[in-house]
Order: sequence, then structure tokens, then C-alpha cells
Amino acid sequence: MSVGLARMNAGLACANAGLACGVRSMSRTLVVVSAGLSSPSSTRLLGDRLAQAAARETGAGVEVVELRDLAGDIANNLVTGFPSPKLAGAIETVTRADGLIVVTPIFNASYSGLFKSFFDVIEAGSLRGKPVLIAATAGTARHSLALEFALRPLFAYLRADVMPTAVFAAAEDWGSSDGPDGDLTARIERAAGELATAMGGRPAAAPTGEDEFVPFDQQLARLGITSSR
Ligand SMILES: Cc1cc2nc3c(=O)[nH]c(=O)nc-3n(C[C@H](O)[C@H](O)[C@H](O)COP(=O)(O)O)c2cc1C
Repeated sequence: MSVGLARMNAGLACANAGLACGVRSMSRTLVVVSAGLSSPSSTRLLGDRLAQAAARETGAGVEVVELRDLAGDIANNLVTGFPSPKLAGAIETVTRADGLIVVTPIFNASYSGLFKSFFDVIEAGSLRGKPVLIAATAGTARHSLALEFALRPLFAYLRADVMPTAVFAAAEDWGSSDGPDGDLTARIERAAGELATAMGGRPAAAPTGEDEFVPFDQQLARLGITSSR
């Protein structure tokens, strides 16, 4: 995909999944953040499959943020401290989402630098309480624990609500079927189900700015209390 954001509505997601969505909330948004670099990208494919499974259960609209289209903008933000309009739009898409699916390729036994850098330029606290499904692709299954020692602590630090099931797809997983626990499709369904439940159990995300920090003295002033030192 040549642009940073791609949107498909819930009806399309349901049609792709071969299912009728019925009468469900169209106001929820599920956002996939993909840090895949290849074209076609296995990381993007895993994100799409997870989104399709979660959208089938929630009826949420799906948007995709492709980090490779934002690589220069992310690097500039790290250096200057300011996001470009394109990056600011992507950050807003992510921070306003009702649920997130974040997928990185494993590079040198951890998340990729591009993936980490994107979450480094997002304001602290803006993912607090947000349901997040973590996932990764790799060449070998030997690095599957990177999800647990790298991605899960990162999103726990960001105070996100990280789903218990993380999805890892090594090259050998595509097209294989080793039984209920080893099968990639089964893991996708389980993780997507957890995300759908987490999204369903909470109100739609508040618009950006509603959680604005108010200094303590201003809070006291609103209550008519003047602080004495
Ligand atoms: C610089 C680099 C480092 C990599 N390091 C690892 C690694 O440590 N372990 C692993 O299993 N795969 C590693 N890989 C393979 C990628 O994780 C794998 O090909 C990934 O699925 C590519 O995702 P994409 O198709 O979305 O680009 C590495 C690939 C690159 C380019």
C-alpha cells in the first residue's frame, strides 16, 4: 500500500470474512499498526487476518497504519520533536482507536526499530486502558518469546490493556495445521475473540483531549478551594 492509512469499512470486513455482521455498532474502530517492510508483507497479512477475525465479532470499522510509509516522518519526529501532518494523522488514528492490533517483524530477536520508534513518538498515556492485541512475524519460531519479553512489557509500560493471547507467525506457520494449539488460524481466532470481548465491554473511545491533564491547583480552584502553603 502506497499511503500510510488504508480504510475498509465493517461491511467490507464482514464480506471478506464471508459473514453477515447484522445490527452492530458501526462507531467502533479497530486499528492495525503494521511494521512490515516487504511487499507483500507477512506482517501486514497477519494484521489483516487478525483484524478480519476481530471485525467479524465486533462489527468495528478497520483502519490500517503502515509504518513503512511513515519511516521518514517518524525519524524526523524523533529529531525535531514534532510530527508531520501525515504522522500526526496516523497517531490520532491510533490514539482514538477502540482497539489496536500491533504487528512487528522480529528483527535481531526483538521488535523492529521502526515499530519501537513509532510508539516512542506517541504521547505517554495516550494508550492507557486501550485493548491491544500484540503479534509478530519472523523467519524462525525460535524467537517467539520476543512477544513476551519485548512487546508485552512495552505495552504494559504504556498502560494498555494487553490481550492474554499474543500471536506469532514464523515462516513455517503459514499454511500449516498442527492441531488446536499449534495452528495459526486457531491462535488468530482466540486472540481476536479476546480483543472483541475487551472492545465490547467498554464504551467507544473518548475524543482526543477529553483526558487532558489538569494541574492539581486548577482542580482545587474549580472546587472553590484555595491552596495555602
Ligand atoms: C534485519 C533483519 C533481522 C531479522 N532478524 C530476525 C530474527 O532475529 N529472528 C527471526 O526469526 N527472523 C528475523 N528476520 C526475518 C523477519 O522477521 C521475517 O522475514 C519477517 O516475517 C518479515 O516480515 P515482512 O514480510 O512483513 O517484511 C530478520 C529480518 C531482517 C530484515
